[in-house]
Amino acid sequence: MRFLEIKPLTPEHLPDAVELDRLCFGGIWAIEGYRRELESPNSDLLGLWTWDGAGTGTPPLQNRAGTGTPPLQVPPTLIGIGCLWAILEEAHIIMLAIHPQFQRQGLGQALLLALLKSAGDRQLERSTLEVRESNLAAVSLYKKFGFKEAGRRKRYYEDTGEDALVMWRSGLEKPEFQQYLAVEKVQMCARLNQKKWHWAIDNFEL
Ligand SMILES: CC(C)(COP(=O)(O)OP(=O)(O)OC[C@H]1O[C@@H](n2cnc3c(N)ncnc32)[C@H](O)[C@@H]1OP(=O)(O)O)[C@@H](O)C(=O)NCCC(=O)NCCS
Repeated sequence: MRFLEIKPLTPEHLPDAVELDRLCFGGIWAIEGYRRELESPNSDLLGLWTWDGAGTGTPPLQNRAGTGTPPLQVPPTLIGIGCLWAILEEAHIIMLAIHPQFQRQGLGQALLLALLKSAGDRQLERSTLEVRESNLAAVSLYKKFGFKEAGRRKRYYEDTGEDALVMWRSGLEKPEFQQYLAVEKVQMCARLNQKKWHWAIDNFEL
């Protein structure tokens, strides 16, 4: 059985974060960059971990207060990372990545949901991000969560000269948004369970 957990990164996780960054983006931030995020009160830096657990059968989703997190057989592996900056009433999503071997299983969706939940908890009103227009996987994921293309930054990416799409999602402060996240969460959990992923802790509490 494979367990999952999303939680904020702490200093001991940073070497793994740098390695994952290298795998997913070719190395955007060095360890100092991640340390700055940890130290910033306006930044939420979340990681997604997995580990193999003992036993069979599906454990119930536990809340934060719950006990009995499944026993560890091997150390958890960091397989996803997401970061947002809270700027005024806006959540700027500046990083979202899933380890290449674990993509297309619904995990990017789970991490984005966790970031949007963090944005809601901070009472932010809208979210924005920039994405390469050729990054169809990411664009499709963001559209799925209600982000709309609002403009583009010409030749934004120096390596290829590619444009960045600027996307926005509004209404984060509305009660309907919480309901929306709750529905998305149910679907996301069902999909992950089908793929034999199980949450060790209910990270969403929606
Ligand atoms: C973008 C990224 C985070 C998506 O993570 P993921 O775990 O593979 O995504 P999910 O399995 O949760 O997919 C959710 C949705 O995203 C879209 N999607 C994901 N991968 C896709 C692909 N290869 N092609 C088209 N759509 C895709 C789909 O809409 C998908 O929904 P569906 O499965 O119901 O069709 C991942 O591809 C990644 O880490 N890429 C490298 C880093 C990166 O580019 N980050 C974004 C920077 S802005």
